[in-house]
Amino acid sequence: MPTETVYGLGAAARDESAVARIFSVKGRPPNHPLIVHISDSGALDDWGRELSDSARELAAAFWPGPLTMLVWRHPSVLDAVTGGRDSVGLRMPDHPVALEILHVFGDGVAAPSANRFGAVSPTRAEHVVADIGAWLDPSRDVIIDGGACAVGLESTIVDLTTDRPTILRPGAVTAESIEAVVGPVQRTDKGPSRAPGMLAAHYAPACEVIVATDAAHAEHLLFERRSALQRAEVLSVEDLDTFARDLYARLRGADERGLDTLIVIVPPSEGIGVAIIDRLLRAATGSAR
Ligand code: TXA
Ligand code: MG
Repeated sequence: MPTETVYGLGAAARDESAVARIFSVKGRPPNHPLIVHISDSGALDDWGRELSDSARELAAAFWPGPLTMLVWRHPSVLDAVTGGRDSVGLRMPDHPVALEILHVFGDGVAAPSANRFGAVSPTRAEHVVADIGAWLDPSRDVIIDGGACAVGLESTIVDLTTDRPTILRPGAVTAESIEAVVGPVQRTDKGPSRAPGMLAAHYAPACEVIVATDAAHAEHLLFERRSALQRAEVLSVEDLDTFARDLYARLRGADERGLDTLIVIVPPSEGIGVAIIDRLLRAATGSAR
């Protein structure tokens, strides 16, 4: 299903066999937890327990929107969804189709990004077809085309089970905007992440991705690669929102065009730029070098 961040591979979050299929279709290790998508903040208490004021304040401030909160899990939540952890990730997506699906279904939908494990997240329905189409069963699975995702990067993940809220994955909801609601947060998002599945090498296309510090550095790298008869291109930054929205489609496009190397000029580390840099560094670590 489409969301404002990336396409999700959804399954009824209380149905053990439906949740199990997410892992087989994605090829994802079973201990990696899933985010439960809900259409109403009232459902916070169905999935979480001992909810803090911070959780309710953040839901009020940012939902529907690209923010996932980790809260203590309700005892009824399946182990397969939480990876056996005592916390559960909850998010209300800001997309009319996703909200309608959740509303009509009437319960939580567990959904990771709809890509094979380790690959770039899909931001268009055709990416989903290309990535996991072969693993789907046409007699019972559907891909819902909601057009291109408006944000283009996965949601911000904030852990509310720690003493101080901790950002595990940067996204469109910035650390500063979270701090404006709940006070100081811990930022592990700039170092190695603690969320399972947030491996260093992730979000990686097949081609080599190099992060250049500026345009001159990019030109130098381009010259070097082309002298070595490589197919190389430079991706430069326009405005940050457009860059975020189109980044994954461009990483995929680089592979489709058979590039050896994609050189990306690093964007400024402000606003969604923090999340773009995070994903670029993972793509760079994961590429075949
Ligand atoms: O924008 C998004 O968040 C998209 C759309 C579909 O909503 N979903 C998404 O899901 O990116 P996924 O599974 O690709 O990434 C979720 C990350 C994973 O790294 C997972 O390990 C972590 O969140 N996560 C989920 N629940 C967790 C929990 N209880 N404790 C720690 N990490 C958790
Ligand atoms: Mg993912």
